[in-house]
Amino acid sequence: MTSAATPLPVPDQPSWRKAFREFTQEHGYQPLRVEGQLPRELRGTLLRIGPVSFGVGGQRYGHWFDGDGGALAVRFEGGEAQGAARRIDTPTMRAEREAGKVLYNNYGTTGPLWNRLSGKVKNTANTSAMTWNGRLFALVESTVPTELSLEDLRTLGETDLDGAVGPSFSAHPHRVEARRATYNFGVHYGRVTQLNLYELPDTGAIRRLGSVPLPGPTIIHDFIATERHLVFFVSSVRIRIFRVLLGMGAFSDNFDWQPRHGTEVLIIPIDDPRRPMRFQAEPFFTWHFGNAYEEDGRLTVDYVRYPDFGSNQWLAELKDGPASSDAQGRLSRSTIDLKERTLRTEQVSDRRCEFPVVNGLRAGARHRYVYLAAHSGPSAWRGPHDALAKVDMETGAETVVSLGKEHHPTEPVFVPRPGGSAEDDGWLLSQTYDATSDQTYVAVLEARTPEAGPVARVWLEHAFPFTFHGTWVPAR
Ligand SMILES: [Fe+2]
Repeated sequence: MTSAATPLPVPDQPSWRKAFREFTQEHGYQPLRVEGQLPRELRGTLLRIGPVSFGVGGQRYGHWFDGDGGALAVRFEGGEAQGAARRIDTPTMRAEREAGKVLYNNYGTTGPLWNRLSGKVKNTANTSAMTWNGRLFALVESTVPTELSLEDLRTLGETDLDGAVGPSFSAHPHRVEARRATYNFGVHYGRVTQLNLYELPDTGAIRRLGSVPLPGPTIIHDFIATERHLVFFVSSVRIRIFRVLLGMGAFSDNFDWQPRHGTEVLIIPIDDPRRPMRFQAEPFFTWHFGNAYEEDGRLTVDYVRYPDFGSNQWLAELKDGPASSDAQGRLSRSTIDLKERTLRTEQVSDRRCEFPVVNGLRAGARHRYVYLAAHSGPSAWRGPHDALAKVDMETGAETVVSLGKEHHPTEPVFVPRPGGSAEDDGWLLSQTYDATSDQTYVAVLEARTPEAGPVARVWLEHAFPFTFHGTWVPAR
C-alpha cells in the first residue's frame, strides 16, 4: 500500500496501545462524573459495541475483528449520567474461554486443525448495536444477532429472530425514516454466494425481502438504503471460499484483490427486489456508507472510499501497535445515474477518516452534513483516529476538532435535539480514550458548533477498548 505523503515516525509502544488490552471491569449502571454541563434535553442511552478481549490462553487473535465483544452504555437524564460496561457472553466465546485456547477459525485467526472442518462460526458479537421493537442486539456480520438486556447489558442469548434471519445478519442495518422500517442483509457463501435481504418494520414482524446472487464470494460490510432502493458496492475482493470452507486458513488469509472485476454497483428496488439493476464501475473498496438519497433519477451516495483493500491490513495491525501503512479512506460522493447506469465520483476531502454518519432523521433523504472520526494529519495515520470532523456537503467546508492531546474519539453518534428542525440541531456523542489518564469518556458536542469543543465529558472510572459502532435510544 502506498500513500501520497510519508507518515512521520510513530513510537512502537504508543500511549493508545493500552486501549487494546482485555476489559475486565464489568459493572451495571452506576453514576458517572460529569465534567462541564450536560444539556438537560439530552435524555436517552448511548450504546456502543466493540471488541474488548484480544486473545485467549496466551494466543493473541490475528485481527482486530476477531476480538470478543463487549457493550458500553451511557444513560443521560436530567443533566446527569450513568454508565454500564459488560463483556458479551456467547456459547462460542465461553467455550474458548473455558478451553483456554482458540477453538474456531475466524476472520483473521486460525483455529486448531481438528476443529476447522466443523463449520462452526464463532459469535464474537463485536461490531454494532441495533434496537428494534424495544429489544437490544449486538451484531457481527458472520452470524446471527445476540440479544442483550437493555436494563443491565447482560447477555440474553443468540437469536435468529424466530427463524427469520440467518445464517448471517450484517452489523449494518439502516433505518429509513420515511418507510418506518430498518433494512439489512446477510451474505451466504456456498456454490453461489447469495445476498439475503431483510426488512424490519418499526412495528410488526421481520420479513425476508428476497435473495440476490453476487458475482463471486466477496466481503460486503455495509450498504445504504434510500426511500426506494438498497444500494451495494460489490468490490473487487474475492475470497478463495473453498479453502475457507475446508479450514485452510482464516478468512483474511484467503482474500484476493482482483481489480479486473471492478466494482459492481448493485441497486435493489425495495418494492421489487427480484429486479435488481447492476453495472460495473472502476475498482475501489468501501467499509462504511454515510447516507444516500434519490432526486430526478439520480442517486447521491456519501461514503468513505479506499483505492484497494489495503486497509484490511491496517485494521489487523492496529491492535498491536502502529499500523505499517496509512488507512487511506477519504470521504467521497458518488452520483449514480439510474437511466445511464453510470457512477461518477468526487473525493470530498483529502483527510483520512472513517465512520461517516448523518442525522438519522435524514437517513434515505437529502442531507447536508456528514460527521466522521478523522485523522488530524500524517503523524496520526498509523494510529487510531484523533479528531472528529463535520463536513458541509454543500459548501465543502470541513470542521476538524481535536478533543485533547492523545485523546482518541470513536465514531460520532448524532442525537437530534427534541423539537429541533435544523439538520445539525443536536449533539455528537463520541466514546473517547484519553491515553494520558488511561480512561474512557463520552464527549458531548453541539453538532452546530463542534469547533467549540465538548460541552461536557462523561468519565468512566476505567478504560474501555475502542468500539466500532453504536446507537442512541431516546428516553421514553
Ligand atoms: Fe462497520
